[in-house]
Amino acid sequence: MRVGVMASGRGSNFQALIDAAESGETPDVELVHLIVNKKGAYAIQRAKKHGIEHTLITSDDKTRREFDQDVLGLLKKQNIEVIVLAGFMRILTPEFIDAYRNRILNIHPSLLPSFPGAHAHRDAIKYGVKVSGCTAHLVDEGIDSGPIIMQTPVTVSEEETEESLANKILEYEHQMLPKALQLLCSGKIIVNGRHIEIKSD
Ligand code: GRF
Repeated sequence: MRVGVMASGRGSNFQALIDAAESGETPDVELVHLIVNKKGAYAIQRAKKHGIEHTLITSDDKTRREFDQDVLGLLKKQNIEVIVLAGFMRILTPEFIDAYRNRILNIHPSLLPSFPGAHAHRDAIKYGVKVSGCTAHLVDEGIDSGPIIMQTPVTVSEEETEESLANKILEYEHQMLPKALQLLCSGKIIVNGRHIEIKSD
């Protein structure tokens, strides 16, 4: 499947996808294009290094709708079949979601439905949970609310800081995202309302 990745910053999850593709772990994934919405995003360097085309579409000077239409235009032109949001910090319009229904994958650093939104680690620590983790899910119109593909728990220690928790969870994100993407691209994911069934081999 032709995959487009959307990122806003560091792009370590994008790197995990690149590494998995290069090592043959994701045979049904072709990383075709990176789209970033922030000028200095380090994800761009990763794309350059690995010969993946990239495009910067800034969101600052556009309405949500205009931005999404620009991105959709590019994705269609590139025949992108599946999209991964890898640290893409922007909400997409319902029109965008609808154009790629059940073909947009997101990674989120908490055990959803707990702590959706941009401050998952901070919110988890503030709440006092003993376990957090990460979730790979399909994207619907809500914020981090789509059907769940996979989750991995991590223990939250007494001394945990936002940074230490983020680092701890990130390791599992990097393992989980390529696996979830491979499942999606190999047609093993069956969506039944909120429930996802994963076909066995
Ligand atoms: C990750 O923790 C991801 O779950 C969240 O934003 C962070 C992005 O990190 N949505 P990176 O850009 O992939 O390094």
